[in-house]
Amino acid sequence: MSATGSLPRMLLVGGSGGVVGRAVLPEFLPTHRIRSVHRHRVSAETTAGVEWVPADIGRVEDWRPLLEDVDVVVNLAWHRWGNTTRFRRLGGGLERLVDAARQVDAPRFLHVSVPEAPATLERGLPYLTYKRRLDRTLVESGLSYRIVRPTMLFARGDRLLGVMLRLMHRYPLFPMFGSGRYHVSPIASVDLAAILHREAGLSQVGTVDAGGPTRFEYRDLTDRMFGLLGKRPRYWHLGPRGSVALAQLLQDLGSTAIYAYEVEWLLADLLGLAPYEGLDRPLTPLEPYLRAEASRLLGHARTAVEGPSRWRE
Ligand SMILES: NC(=O)c1ccc[n+]([C@@H]2O[C@H](COP(=O)([O-])OP(=O)(O)OC[C@H]3O[C@@H](n4cnc5c(N)ncnc54)[C@H](OP(=O)(O)O)[C@@H]3O)[C@@H](O)[C@H]2O)c1
Repeated sequence: MSATGSLPRMLLVGGSGGVVGRAVLPEFLPTHRIRSVHRHRVSAETTAGVEWVPADIGRVEDWRPLLEDVDVVVNLAWHRWGNTTRFRRLGGGLERLVDAARQVDAPRFLHVSVPEAPATLERGLPYLTYKRRLDRTLVESGLSYRIVRPTMLFARGDRLLGVMLRLMHRYPLFPMFGSGRYHVSPIASVDLAAILHREAGLSQVGTVDAGGPTRFEYRDLTDRMFGLLGKRPRYWHLGPRGSVALAQLLQDLGSTAIYAYEVEWLLADLLGLAPYEGLDRPLTPLEPYLRAEASRLLGHARTAVEGPSRWRE
């Protein structure tokens, strides 16, 4: 544990370069000294004086030196797509981290996972097989742990809602997967960071799902997004099978816009999670972010944005 009188030390695994990490950094900086493990340099970390440990997590054999003086571990690292080898290696490195944490001073351990997925994906997709294996390792570790499972996240530069808006802006038709009558409750990455900060200070053990403040019907949300772009909604209607096949084709062609498993997950209606309860402020609404993104695409961000300043950066 860190020396008395100084700020507690956090080991951030997965770094501040990703969607969640970019929000975690400003959230924890006022209260923690941060040691951050990931591969690529992040200028915000350098500026903030974060101790960066350049490493591929899958290749870290002994985590004990990195856990020295650490009070809380926050793990964000995962890949959005990859084969078995890729996930086995990353998962193996993270399991060694859990094991090392047990051997040292047993810091509070926060891990970001994903919500329940359709059974076929849970069984057959390396992305999920190794994620769940890691989740179980933590549950059985005896550590003071918390697994936070957010639904789809939104933030400047996100890879879901922001990409959807860009596609709607650019093309005459937007694919509508199945009926569109399933649900999503996007949560801001800044809210996930605040949740992690809160959970770091608690001793409660277990898994918590985290949705944003509003549960939208998907089709209603896409209609609204078209509206923000000043366009009438126009869809290319696809049945469930055709939807997955289209995503698979795009994936096979090398696109990272959407993966077939993400469409299956959406269609299974498992992503409309209830709002996380426990923050001392309301969860961030989605609409100001969408408005800001749409305005940026339309080229008049300065006049049209009414949302919080963070969406204008
Ligand atoms: N985005 C979402 O909508 C969403 C929803 C639910 C749950 N989640 C979960 O939230 C967590 C964070 O997601 P994110 O969207 O922020 O991911 P992200 O943008 O892809 O960021 C992942 C971070 O992990 C690091 N990383 C990946 N592989 C690594 C390796 N082998 N060694 C060292 N560092 C590695 C990357 O840094 P370097 O490239 O510098 O190594 C990057 O900073 C993930 O566990 C994800 O499954 C995300």
